[in-house]
Amino acid sequence: MAQDSKTMANLQEAFAGESQANRKYLAFAKQADADGFAQAAKLFRAASEAETVHAHSHLKVMGGINSTKENLLEAIAGETHEFKSMYPQMITEAEKEGNAQAVRTFKFANEVEKVHAGLYTKALEALGQEGPVFDYFVCSICGHTVEKAAPEKCVVCGAGSKAFFQVS
Ligand SMILES: [Fe+2]
Ligand SMILES: [Fe+2]
Repeated sequence: MAQDSKTMANLQEAFAGESQANRKYLAFAKQADADGFAQAAKLFRAASEAETVHAHSHLKVMGGINSTKENLLEAIAGETHEFKSMYPQMITEAEKEGNAQAVRTFKFANEVEKVHAGLYTKALEALGQEGPVFDYFVCSICGHTVEKAAPEKCVVCGAGSKAFFQVS
């Protein structure tokens, strides 16, 4: 595998880049729609889908997709790292630099990563013995993620139930 290590690092880098491009193009598509440029919006959305194809392919080749049990464990580890060490440090640094908007976005993410770690842990414990399948609701302001129904009010950001969208 040693002679392969450059390629593994490249796959990792390409996966990160394609993943970012996917999200960036979706944000650009929204902006293009808001600006009244429907064709540019469609192109951004089409390219974003293509970047997802690339990202998933790179991830698969580097062995990044495993059994659902292993994937849940990895997701829990990732979310836990984010709320235990990554975001707390970023929040401290943003506060130090007086960037209130960065503090707000980091704090929202930090709170929601705790929720995600909890939901993933619950899913892991229930794996193989799930009850009826239900949908999740996501807050469009902060990303808070809730089972089964949108709450009256988001406990993370205070938005009303209309801010939540259903994910099936
Ligand atoms: Fe998360
Ligand atoms: Fe929220």
